Amino acid sequence: MLQFVNRLASEGGGTADAASRLARLLETHFHKEETFAAPPLGMLPRLARGSVNPGMAADLVHSDWLRQNIDTMLAEHRMIAAALEELLRAAMPAPQAELVTFAETLLNHSRLEEEVFYPAAIVAGEYLKVLLGERAALAAP
Ligand SMILES: [Fe+2]
Repeated sequence: MLQFVNRLASEGGGTADAASRLARLLETHFHKEETFAAPPLGMLPRLARGSVNPGMAADLVHSDWLRQNIDTMLAEHRMIAAALEELLRAAMPAPQAELVTFAETLLNHSRLEEEVFYPAAIVAGEYLKVLLGERAALAAP
């Protein structure tokens, strides 16, 4: 996704400035997602099998960060949507089909993150705490 807007930005023309602004927003936002949402999502298969170990607690810092900063992430989605709208406006009256498809894909992806991925990442961390707490309680003398 970033590749597409970076290409638009580098091509110049009427959409370059709007594409650059969107690229900057996406770059920062994607970095946060890779850092804080991806690790807890990666735990899901093991959590679903109940296969956990205390070493997995290292990922709690990521899911905790996401839980505490969810409002910021959602606000960034709104800023990204506004920048995308600006980009589409800059491309009027005849936006290229690739841009329209990109816009739909990006908005659908944001919605999926808000409704599934972010909650799943947070729940993964909270569930890990429960499982590790139960194991510790069972292991206690
Ligand atoms: Fe996102």
